[in-house]
Amino acid sequence: MNKEFNILALPGDGTGPEVVNEAIKVLEKSSEKYGSKFKFTNNDLGGDRYLKTGELVTNKDIDQFKNSDAVLLGAIGHPDVKPGILEQGILLRLRKEFDQYINLRPVILYPGVDTPLVDKSPEDINFVVVRENTEGLYAGAGGYIHYGTENEVATQESINSYYAIHRCIKYAFEYTKNNNRKKITLCAKTNVLTYAHDLWERIFNDVAKEYPEIDTDYAHVDAVCMWMVKNPEWFDVIVTDNMFGDIITDLGAMIQGGMGIAAGGNINPEGTSMFEPIGGSAPKYTDKNVINPLACIGAAAMMVKELGEEQYSEDIENAIIKTAIGLESLSAGKMGMGTSEVGDMVLNYLLNKNE
Ligand code: IPM
Ligand code: MN
Repeated sequence: MNKEFNILALPGDGTGPEVVNEAIKVLEKSSEKYGSKFKFTNNDLGGDRYLKTGELVTNKDIDQFKNSDAVLLGAIGHPDVKPGILEQGILLRLRKEFDQYINLRPVILYPGVDTPLVDKSPEDINFVVVRENTEGLYAGAGGYIHYGTENEVATQESINSYYAIHRCIKYAFEYTKNNNRKKITLCAKTNVLTYAHDLWERIFNDVAKEYPEIDTDYAHVDAVCMWMVKNPEWFDVIVTDNMFGDIITDLGAMIQGGMGIAAGGNINPEGTSMFEPIGGSAPKYTDKNVINPLACIGAAAMMVKELGEEQYSEDIENAIIKTAIGLESLSAGKMGMGTSEVGDMVLNYLLNKNE
């Protein structure tokens, strides 16, 4: 019997719906071959709905989430909505509500994709960032005094709990072990964040003792940025806090060929996870059939893996690689072929794998 998965599709804004369509097409037309079945439910959360109704995440949305095995998100972000509202009210709210405590972001240069790093090739750029996804500077701790006056003081505190750091680092080691990777680098700033990142380092060193077969390394975040450009081959798995993870994964997306290719997962290993292309809503490319859907199809592959279908996931990824080799240029989210044709290409490679 086919394994059935309930997937909540959250296409969102801008080019989100176009890329989610391609990912759904690929899954719907290939699932039978892999003995699984996807039931998609659509949810219209996003900037358009907010502008029409004033609604962000409602109880009904939350129920839909709870009834899903996973969520596939397109993009959230609307040019007519003040920055911050949708990010806080939707994306960060959902991460928090579902305790998606890991943000997993592979930085893998596929053959056929251009990187701005002139001397680097796919063998050099192949690592995964495990970003803590619930606290640090994202915890929302802080406030104003004397608001709106010249005496104003604003604070924004970085919250670092043993609990959240430990589960993140533990996940990173387990991920390394289960994915045949060899080394973890802790990316922090222990020379300045002498309390918060000291705690990170102590927990990292403690957990490392449980995994003697895994090599460990430490680098300050500024050095990580330098080495991601100069020696990306030094990295295998990087574990880091929320803010640093946010920043270094945009750099990662660029060295792996741009936002059109980078995918990520907001993961709750015990709950509902949410997968997304990390490129944003790209309003000016909306409905032009020009946006690259590979990042979203890659997010779908990550989702399939998290649902336990490893072979299926690997085959989707290989189909993406073959497609990338076949495409002329993938820089900056644009490419020489239409969005839906690229989706078709991935699907063809996937279905004809053994032919
Ligand atoms: C990301 C984004 C979000 C973040 C924003 C939109 C809140 O940049 O997923 O990396 O900072 O986490
Ligand atoms: Mn970001």
